[in-house]
Amino acid sequence: GDARVAGIAASIRVIPDFPKPGIMFQDITTLLLDPNAFRDTIDLFVERYKDQGITVVAGVEARGFIFGPPIALAIGAKFVPLRKPKKLPGEVISEEYSLEYGTDKIEMHVGAVEASDRALVVDDLIATGGTLCAAVKLLERVGAKVVECACVIELPELKGRDKLGDRPVFVLVKAD
Ligand code: PRP
Ligand code: MG
Repeated sequence: GDARVAGIAASIRVIPDFPKPGIMFQDITTLLLDPNAFRDTIDLFVERYKDQGITVVAGVEARGFIFGPPIALAIGAKFVPLRKPKKLPGEVISEEYSLEYGTDKIEMHVGAVEASDRALVVDDLIATGGTLCAAVKLLERVGAKVVECACVIELPELKGRDKLGDRPVFVLVKAD
């Protein structure tokens, strides 16, 4: 692997029992405090995606808004925010996904993404995969091709990849 990945992994703080007992929270705010780790994170994604004809980077609120835009700028793609409900002012399409208790939704502006677009979906972390799956569905509903989903961290035990079917998921760090 890339030596930079070790530095990125070391910069992520794990906070036990947040937000509730038994959860080992992967805190990327400490990665953001380390300019080398943050730069390496963006660089690794940019190196992977710069020559893949990606025209849109879709970032999932909230933490996909941190990593998505610098990647989009560096590869010359547009950035589209996928937001929590009732935040976007224009016409939207929405996708529901399940949480441990109940459901949530993400929304995308109609017209932001076209059928001819090639998309990269960015978030900080894949756990159960529900969030990324909803994001992919929004893009596919308007006919875009989802080239890949990219996250900083994966919790492999939760098997979130299975929800994405054959869409590839690329991660830098696997947490245990
Ligand atoms: C977290 C994380 C991912 C999602 C992953 O976001 O940032 O978006 O959960 O979980 P999943 O794979 O089981 O769907 P969260 O919804 O907690 O909110 P935030 O990003 O707005 O803080
Ligand atoms: Mg999130």
